[in-house]
Amino acid sequence: MRMRILITKDYEELSAKTADLIAAQVLLRPDCVLGLATGSTPVGAYRDLVEKYENGEIDFSDVKTVNLDEYCGMRDSDPQSYHYFMNENLFSRINIRPENTHLPDGTASDVSRECESYEKLIASLGRIDLLLLGIGNNGHIGFNEPSEGFAVKTHCVDLTDDTVRANKRFFSNESEVPRKALTMGIGTIMMAETILLAASGASKAEALKKALRGPVTPEVPASILQLHPNVIVVADEAAFG
Ligand code: PGA
Repeated sequence: MRMRILITKDYEELSAKTADLIAAQVLLRPDCVLGLATGSTPVGAYRDLVEKYENGEIDFSDVKTVNLDEYCGMRDSDPQSYHYFMNENLFSRINIRPENTHLPDGTASDVSRECESYEKLIASLGRIDLLLLGIGNNGHIGFNEPSEGFAVKTHCVDLTDDTVRANKRFFSNESEVPRKALTMGIGTIMMAETILLAASGASKAEALKKALRGPVTPEVPASILQLHPNVIVVADEAAFG
């Protein structure tokens, strides 16, 4: 295992560091494949990447992206969809080609076929050079929820009550939060060349501690990262505990 832990003073510094690491990847390999995450954590990093792009520091014209997950039943145009989130926060603000950006299709009628084709798509890109992950309060990565076993490939998942509660802040009420999502599997995630796990705030401290220092168990999906050869953790002081 090679895990580097970078502790930052606060969310702003965490965002700057995360953006620096992603920018470094793009500079090193302009046609790289980035794995991207949604949620509150990466918003500041995406904002900083947009700024770097606007300053002429990075060029995304050959970059390809694959996102971790998408809610089931959400159209791309739905403001709560992860497609929409990525367009708003990053894709529409940089010079990435829309055809080079990929998320699972939450509206697919044949869900297992969609999962299989997403897996094939990722394989066809060669490899994910740098995969950005957040961590859930319950230790999830992507939407791989605590369970009795690690799901290997892209699959459809029932979201736990914890996750639905945590995500209801993005909806007008809890009943609107989708109960199902498509997510990259743990195997898909572990195939990434480098994993960048970002965690901010005291609400993540327990999950992060278990992930980094507890036993490797599917009850804490992020704990599997202890077995990955190249992980960078960027955590602010509050999340590091
Ligand atoms: P957050 O979500 O960035 O909104 O806290 C992280 C996650 O649930 O993976």
